[in-house]
Amino acid sequence: MGGQYFEKRPASKRRPAQISVTIRGYPFNFHTDSGVFSRDELDRGTELLLEAVEVGPWETILDLGCGYGVIGIVAARLTEGGHVILTDVNERAAALARANLAANGIRNAEVRIGDVYAPVDGMAFDHILCNPPIRAGRDVVDRIIAEAPSHLLDGGRFWLVARTRQGADTLRRRMTKAFGTADVVKRGSGFKVLRSVKPGA
Ligand SMILES: C[S@@+](CC[C@H](N)C(=O)[O-])C[C@H]1O[C@@H](n2cnc3c(N)ncnc32)[C@H](O)[C@@H]1O
Repeated sequence: MGGQYFEKRPASKRRPAQISVTIRGYPFNFHTDSGVFSRDELDRGTELLLEAVEVGPWETILDLGCGYGVIGIVAARLTEGGHVILTDVNERAAALARANLAANGIRNAEVRIGDVYAPVDGMAFDHILCNPPIRAGRDVVDRIIAEAPSHLLDGGRFWLVARTRQGADTLRRRMTKAFGTADVVKRGSGFKVLRSVKPGA
């Protein structure tokens, strides 16, 4: 194996694979590979987040840390008429996410490469969706949470999934600090889906 899923340029030998799943009633097919998060099957936390998330038509959505693109691609399917930006620091993940947009016929989304919010500098969204890179370290996850309000429109929502045993309750406290409130909107299989709302709308 070798390498970590959050590296900019994974050096691990290519091992392409595919995952076929139905999510929220829609069929999807995802190309995956070594050197990206959850190559062999959909992460249970990702699944739980996608079961919980409520997005409407014509909304703007950021999938931060998109991996091979599951969250952003499902969100793009759910927000008919809206637009999704998927970002990741890992170039192999970003290339797979682009391929997966095409493979799933998604036209209302784009993939950008870069660190945390750098690819969407100055932009604000209706939703930010994130299965955060816990293994990349506290600094990265702290920045994702602390800078979220400035990348949301008034009334916009920040959705995050985390394992209870990997500090979901600590992350909830950080979200409360950044937004004023954070609710547990779903739990299961040892994960919690957390949601904060930016005041103002
Ligand atoms: C837990 S994975 C989730 C991947 C995907 N969203 C999913 O649910 O399968 C977190 C992702 O964050 C990315 N990541 C790590 N550090 C990052 C950073 N500084 N900026 C942006 N993305 C980062 C990793 O490369 C990885 O793809």
